[in-house]
Amino acid sequence: MSQFQEKTEITRIERLTPDVFRITLESSEIASRARPGQFVMVRTGDGKDPLLRRPFSISQTSSGKYFQILFKVIGRGTSMLAHCREGEYLSILGPLGSGFTFDCKADNCLVGGGMGIAPLLFLGKSMLRNCTLKPPTIVLGARNKEELAPLIKDFKELGLSVYPATDDGSLGTHGLVTDILKGLDLAPTCKMSVCGPTPMMTAVHLFCKKKEISCQVSMETAMACGMGACLGCIVPLAKGGYAHACSDGPVFDAKELLWQVR
Ligand SMILES: Cc1cc2nc3c(=O)[nH]c(=O)nc-3n(C[C@H](O)[C@H](O)[C@H](O)COP(=O)(O)OP(=O)(O)OC[C@H]3O[C@@H](n4cnc5c(N)ncnc54)[C@H](O)[C@@H]3O)c2cc1C
Ligand code: FES
Repeated sequence: MSQFQEKTEITRIERLTPDVFRITLESSEIASRARPGQFVMVRTGDGKDPLLRRPFSISQTSSGKYFQILFKVIGRGTSMLAHCREGEYLSILGPLGSGFTFDCKADNCLVGGGMGIAPLLFLGKSMLRNCTLKPPTIVLGARNKEELAPLIKDFKELGLSVYPATDDGSLGTHGLVTDILKGLDLAPTCKMSVCGPTPMMTAVHLFCKKKEISCQVSMETAMACGMGACLGCIVPLAKGGYAHACSDGPVFDAKELLWQVR
């Protein structure tokens, strides 16, 4: 798999909420090779602070030339990214990791929580392009309407069926994404693709296990190198031992992972 490290120009920055931003970058090398579920490692500053690159899912590509990342400001690196300006350059390494797989004959259901929604837009678009007869069902959750509404917009514009859930009931179902899944008439041949906080992915995995539905999850563990060279991103496996989320994943068959069930 080809990876590139290059200075990419920021062609657009959008502020979607007070702390969620979308950056469009120009790189035909990365955009033309990226697959849904892959990520990039971004150097967020010119100097040594922060020293390590930060991982972000590729949230969509366009014209084989541009790709976008969608991020929430949570610490030093993302705060620096939020202060970037159009026309500036960012050092990017990617595309990295395994992507989602999909079967156009199956009923596909994409389930995202919070910023885990980012890679699902790319996946949903790919499915729409390739699986014209069976568009995916989209189930998205977040804390409230302010956080979720801007993330849903892109899926709706594609004409996809979106089922929203919010913790406070301000948009869609008042509750969790699993509350929506329980009410959907999902075929046993359905294939679930999930990205979000670990408790949410654990709950979706348990739901799928009970219903014997296939489930793939994207693990957004903290990462240091992004290339399998350190142990910064290990995830425990059901059969024992560990996998690197960056190079063996970030997308795994949920059954292969060891889940902490309380
Ligand atoms: C494969 C992958 C894809 C990702 N895609 C996206 C994306 O599309 N959009 C997005 O907003 N974020 C995404 N993330 C998470 C993103 O990388 C972190 O939010 C970012 O690195 C934080 O950097 P920072 O310097 O701002 O915060 P830091 O100062 O590094 O961290 C601030 C706090 O957040 C915690 N933290 C850092 N990274 C994570 C993490 N991955 N999970 C949980 N807690 C963490 C730290 O322990 C610390 O407490 C992804 C992570 C991975 C591994
Ligand atoms: S982040 Fe270094 S091995 Fe995965």
